[in-house]
Amino acid sequence: MLRFVRVNLGNLVLSLSDAMDLASPLLSQHQQRTAFIAWELGKDARLSEERLERTFIAALLHDIGASSLEEKVSLRNSEVEVLGHHCERGDVLLNSVPWLKDSAKIVRFHHKGWNAWNDLSESIETPVVLESQILNLSDFVERQIDRSQYILHQHEGILTRIKSRSGSMFHPDVVDLFFAVSGREEFWLDLVSPRLYSLLLHNGPFRKTEIDLSEISSISELFRNIIDFRSRFTATHSSGVAAAASMLSRIFGFTEMETKLMEVAGDLHDIGKLAIPNSILDKPGKLTKEEMAVIKSHTYYTYSVINTIGGIKQIAEWAAYHHEKLDGSGYPFHCSADDLSTGSRIMMVADIFTAIAEDRPYRQGMPREGIIKVFNQFSDRQQLDPKIINLLIENYDEIYSYVNEKQAIARDFYEKQFAFLGDVMKLEVR
Ligand SMILES: [Fe+2]
Ligand SMILES: [Fe+2]
Ligand SMILES: [Fe+2]
Repeated sequence: MLRFVRVNLGNLVLSLSDAMDLASPLLSQHQQRTAFIAWELGKDARLSEERLERTFIAALLHDIGASSLEEKVSLRNSEVEVLGHHCERGDVLLNSVPWLKDSAKIVRFHHKGWNAWNDLSESIETPVVLESQILNLSDFVERQIDRSQYILHQHEGILTRIKSRSGSMFHPDVVDLFFAVSGREEFWLDLVSPRLYSLLLHNGPFRKTEIDLSEISSISELFRNIIDFRSRFTATHSSGVAAAASMLSRIFGFTEMETKLMEVAGDLHDIGKLAIPNSILDKPGKLTKEEMAVIKSHTYYTYSVINTIGGIKQIAEWAAYHHEKLDGSGYPFHCSADDLSTGSRIMMVADIFTAIAEDRPYRQGMPREGIIKVFNQFSDRQQLDPKIINLLIENYDEIYSYVNEKQAIARDFYEKQFAFLGDVMKLEVR
């Protein structure tokens, strides 16, 4: 039984940031590298520890508002700074977590050039101006790196391009800071090192900061929204799974803390979908064999992202085994009944229940009789646990209305705060 959960904040944010960038070799470590540059610049600017931390978090999560993998790739490769929506969306998302509000503002302005601040008569001394300028330059530097070339064969060209934007896109002081920190080859070699994750983990700002379950759960809710809001068709799916899983585990007799952990696992169960292109996720109708093979990796990533955080292996299993079956026919781990704990069995049922009960673009949600029939078939084939299925059927109305209530809250947040940003979907290349 789990009694006590604490994780390292640095490891948590690094792992989640990494998850957002693991989708494509064109993106890998983009936010981590940006955070490394911002951290070096912040240290050299002698920012207070608090400002350094909020800049570091903002940098690690700065593209959080880019909804699709396709959009993220186009942002990294874009020369033109016109893609403002992801900044506003990032601000809205981070603002939902009280202690990330300061980072939210930095993210909002991470593509605002110095001349735009200057036109508003803003001073570089103002915290959010300096921090967002640091992030602006850090992101620019990372996007200048040609991943097919050795870094010390290209760093001088990058410096020239920065210099030519001094006083326009970047404040001259921030450019000077960058020249000061990048004078050593070590800086560039660290920047592109495959070991950057552990470098930031062991030397970065949060190496000693531990957070407890309530903070873990506020971050898991944030990521739940990032996962769900990628597509309006599944904008409330993880909210529904988290609600169903926590309610089922409470009825089963899990402790208060275990129930809360099931909710976190439900929030994050599809985090590996961040690695899957929207063209596959949003495809109406049946997937091809090749597309299905891509989909199969999502729970593999869910496991590795959560397990890398350290100290919450149990949550990693509960979250990542939701496509497994008791007879070993699930994917991608092909767990047997012995590998599947009660928590995992609950998540398997919660995921299927939520998925078939909710409307999708290509079909309506299934009514109660249909859902019960589907679960009885799973039970007959010995693929899902009959005990959990019985719990679901016996408490159907209570679970159904709780899931609906939580999904309505998520839908409301999505529509009020997020979908209003007009062409969210148009930016996505399908
Ligand atoms: Fe950006
Ligand atoms: Fe970026
Ligand atoms: Fe899934």
